[in-house]
Amino acid sequence: MISKTFPITEIIRHRRTVKPAMMDSDLDIPMELIDELLENANWAPTHGFTEPWRFKIFSGNSRKSLGKKLQDLYSAHTPDDQFRQDKLNKLGKNPILAPIVMAICMERGDNPKIPELEEIEAVACAIQNMHLTAAAAGLGAFWSSPPILGTDGMREFLSLREIDRCLGLFYLGWLKEGENWPKSSRGPVSNKIEWVDKS
Ligand SMILES: Cc1cc2nc3c(=O)[nH]c(=O)nc-3n(C[C@H](O)[C@H](O)[C@H](O)COP(=O)(O)O)c2cc1C
Repeated sequence: MISKTFPITEIIRHRRTVKPAMMDSDLDIPMELIDELLENANWAPTHGFTEPWRFKIFSGNSRKSLGKKLQDLYSAHTPDDQFRQDKLNKLGKNPILAPIVMAICMERGDNPKIPELEEIEAVACAIQNMHLTAAAAGLGAFWSSPPILGTDGMREFLSLREIDRCLGLFYLGWLKEGENWPKSSRGPVSNKIEWVDKS
């Protein structure tokens, strides 16, 4: 049962991964909602105010170029014995199943006091802000992280420097008619807690 002590609890428990195959690619996402997702992402915590999150947004025909690039990189980087035709197909198809796909990038700052890991963590917080905002609006979202995102070819495609990273593709879209908001589960939090009392 969902606790209703705070509205945010409901949103956090409601947030789900919605895969592109469940999305209606023809149903547009209003620009005001996209703006709100991005504004909320921009309010993520950031050590040293480096604000390392960068969003490269694909819509319309550019989604096809993204799919083609993902397929080319998968073909080029996958050893023959690991190659899967279904994966190749999905990489090309996923971007056109969602009306909006964002490449979520980390632009490495130049403050030497901030470790790279903290820049990555800040971007992850930004994605969570976006994912929760999407869930609150009933909009589906999927964070995908195929290994090819770390290739030089992908960096070049996204105009990233060598020290920057693409941490994921974030697919956004409304559920297709007939699809239901997915369910998920977690193991008990009690297994993940240790109250340390050494006094
Ligand atoms: C950093 C990160 C990367 C992820 N990458 C993938 C991915 O490549 N493929 C995938 O199917 N799901 C990916 N996911 C989504 C998880 O599969 C999903 O969160 C999990 O199944 C739990 O479902 P829920 O988000 O609906 O609770 C990723 C999630 C995170 C946090």
